[in-house]
Amino acid sequence: MGRGSEIESARVLAARTRNGLTGRSLMLHGVRGVGKTVLLRALQHELDRRGWLTVAVEAQRDPDARALARQQLERGLLAGARRLASRSERLSDTLASALSTLTSFSLSVGAGVTLGANLQPARGRADTGVLELDLVELVEDLAPALRDAGTGLAVFVDEIQDLEASTLTALLAVQHQAAQQGWPFSVFGAGLPSVPAVLSEARSYAERQFEYRSIDRLGADDATEAFAGPARTAGASFTPEALTLLVDASGGYPYFVQELGFQAWQLAPGPDLITDDDARLAASAGIDALDAGFFRARWERATRAEQRFMRAMAADHDAPSLLTDLVERLRKRKPSDLSVARRDLISKGLIYASARAELAFTAPHMASYINRRHGEG
Ligand SMILES: Nc1ncnc2c1ncn2[C@@H]1O[C@H](COP(=O)(O)OP(=O)(O)OP(=O)(O)O)[C@@H](O)[C@H]1O
Ligand SMILES: [Mg+2]
Repeated sequence: MGRGSEIESARVLAARTRNGLTGRSLMLHGVRGVGKTVLLRALQHELDRRGWLTVAVEAQRDPDARALARQQLERGLLAGARRLASRSERLSDTLASALSTLTSFSLSVGAGVTLGANLQPARGRADTGVLELDLVELVEDLAPALRDAGTGLAVFVDEIQDLEASTLTALLAVQHQAAQQGWPFSVFGAGLPSVPAVLSEARSYAERQFEYRSIDRLGADDATEAFAGPARTAGASFTPEALTLLVDASGGYPYFVQELGFQAWQLAPGPDLITDDDARLAASAGIDALDAGFFRARWERATRAEQRFMRAMAADHDAPSLLTDLVERLRKRKPSDLSVARRDLISKGLIYASARAELAFTAPHMASYINRRHGEG
């Protein structure tokens, strides 16, 4: 709910592609639990049902990140190509040649799954083992078949701030070249608020490659509907005060809406009306549940030293913290004394650099949780 303009952008891209034009894809960024993943999947679905070849990759920090990312890319491409081939009665020449390039791409980049006995790997195409070079050739060879169909190839990367560096630069470089050559290839992504900075650092032109969208909490109307809609479907409703109370308590964060809505549903004694009292109980039970789950899981992921660091940040409540203030609060001498904890907390996805020499929590209301549950004294 409330994400109509992003969906509309995907439709516009699909329409432009159908007319032989290129367009910019979306890069979603925002804090934890605002609905980025759900929206990214919805965008993928929009293109999927218009016949695009779509691939989903979820980046992860892992010693094997490079191999994992490539595997996902390769498997996704193969699965997508199978869908595409199964839709056409007979493989057109352009499609058959595209698929044989994909077969050699798969042999060089991944496990080497073949698409069918009659498809030999294309000789000398997409077979160097260097992702960027192979992907360029693959996209180039896929382009005619996709263009015939009026569709394109789109890769959807979730948690893109964690994508292994060489895979990320390869995707950005190929998209850049595709835009110049008019090949229908797009990378969509979602991740933390640091995503625009991470991408610009990987490739300076990344700034112009995407339509960056900051995904924020839901507005009051959308949040209200996020509570009321599912209830309505189940034949239930809220009193107006109960709705206001729950919307306020959720702060409009979809993840919190979900938790509070669940609690209200569990706690209401009647089958069809959620009263003010039910909502009050649900708000307090919801916060307890978030403390014990969502927040605690994040807190426990940090070492003692990192927890001290986060406690120092929590003194700023929900506002970002200046590195210089943290140095003072943690009784250090200079910012570099904090660089290990800072780096590890960023890599654990708990905080991000909101600006130069400034840090913020990736989870909304993390500071309130820390002050509530782990305050000093
Ligand atoms: N537009 C929306 N309206 C109502 N609820 C939503 C909306 N988008 C997402 N949700 C719900 O909010 C929760 C969080 O969504 P999602 O996982 O997409 O967030 P996220 O931004 O990807 O979080 P993270 O940064 O932790 O990956 C999910 O339970 C989802 O069902
Ligand atoms: Mg997500």
